[in-house]
Amino acid sequence: MESVRWLLLLLLPVLDISATTPDPCELDEDDIHCACNFSEPQPDWSSAFLCVSAVDVEIRGGGRSLEQFLERVDIDADPRQYMDVVKALRLRRLTIGAARVPALLLFGALRVLGYSRLKELTLEDLEVTGTMPQPVGIQGPGLSVLRLRNVSWTTGGAWLPELQHWLKPGLKVLNIAQTHPLDFSCDKVLTFSALTTLDLSDNPGLGKRGLMATLCPHKFPVLRDLALRNAGIQTPNEVCSALATAGVQPHRLDLSHNSMLATAKPEDPGCVWPSALNSLDLSFAGLEQVPKGLPAELEVLNLSCNRLNRKPRSDELPKVSNLTLDGNPFLIPGTSNPSSIVPSGVVPACVHSPLAVGMSGTLALLQGARGFA
Ligand SMILES: *[C@@H]1O[C@H](CO)[C@@H](O)[C@H](O)[C@H]1NC(C)=O
Ligand SMILES: *[C@@H]1O[C@H](CO)[C@@H](O)[C@H](O)[C@H]1NC(C)=O
Ligand SMILES: *[C@@H]1O[C@H](CO)[C@@H](O)[C@H](O)[C@H]1NC(C)=O
Ligand SMILES: *[C@@H]1O[C@H](CO)[C@@H](O)[C@H](O)[C@H]1NC(C)=O
Repeated sequence: MESVRWLLLLLLPVLDISATTPDPCELDEDDIHCACNFSEPQPDWSSAFLCVSAVDVEIRGGGRSLEQFLERVDIDADPRQYMDVVKALRLRRLTIGAARVPALLLFGALRVLGYSRLKELTLEDLEVTGTMPQPVGIQGPGLSVLRLRNVSWTTGGAWLPELQHWLKPGLKVLNIAQTHPLDFSCDKVLTFSALTTLDLSDNPGLGKRGLMATLCPHKFPVLRDLALRNAGIQTPNEVCSALATAGVQPHRLDLSHNSMLATAKPEDPGCVWPSALNSLDLSFAGLEQVPKGLPAELEVLNLSCNRLNRKPRSDELPKVSNLTLDGNPFLIPGTSNPSSIVPSGVVPACVHSPLAVGMSGTLALLQGARGFA
């Protein structure tokens, strides 16, 4: 039991018992999913014991600072003392959210999880303070998937290499959304030798410069899928030049949900697209015409939900076997009548309703799940 206690100390990291508050943790009937939301002023942290048998665990800290717990945890303690217990955990997916966490505590947890079979880690709505210790021959978990959403790091652009040093190699999917800073210390970043999917969607401030700073040259040798939805991208050409500079050769590129210009800006000269690129998503990009400078040949091109007022001529399009033009005004009968189009010139089915957003989220999830199977 002492070792379980240690684990929770590092994961959570408190075991204050206060009997008066409602139970913050819930475990489903199949012992698969367990979620804790410690949003009460005096939460009963010990109820996290409930999650010890679960496969999917979500822990949210109610937005509070966990700094006070640093002094209760011995970061230098030998993690082997709880190795057997951690190895026996069924935990595969862990979400840690809504807290201000000292980096020391986060990495204490990663060190313990190094003995686990954790595959997916999500960090959400976190502020990580301070710098991380250098690992000394001890490694954290061998993750396949790492997701960060709305995480800020006081350590600056060094956070990615620091985090990388604590993970066993083999990461396949990396999602970084609403997270800063994104200008990494590229010389310190290790090569992501197994990473096939990089998703930098929902970083509206990224833009061309941010993309250049984030796509560390030659650190993503096997990248297949690059998603840049809602990432401040203005022209396909600026992505092309960022890919060329970084030596990244994706097969699929998702540029949907950006406000795109159809013509390249003068400072973005023509560029040679990676020859492997065969699928390009330009849906929801506000395009009134097909942008110039697209790859000459593609298998899949998605131009749905734009503002194309006429069918693109074949000389405006790349050679493409699978073209989607749904949801453009020229396909909607009666769109010559302005009242059938919302003022922005977008056809009704493509308006950003909560439903549309939800659907694109579901599709993204499905695509993620497919990439993994
Ligand atoms: C956690 O609890 C707070 C307060 O009750 C609530 O606002 C929040 O939505 C909850 N978070 C989750 C993920 O359920
Ligand atoms: C982002 O995370 C911070 C905590 O670090 C939180 O205060 C804020 O509400 C989060 N923002 C969103 C949009 O959830
Ligand atoms: C094209 O994009 C739309 C909107 O994002 C999506 O619903 C559709 O499935 C995509 N089609 C193809 C063929 O990728
Ligand atoms: C077109 O591409 C989409 C997305 O990759 C795929 O789901 C669909 O099956 C393709 N359609 C055809 C006719 O190949």
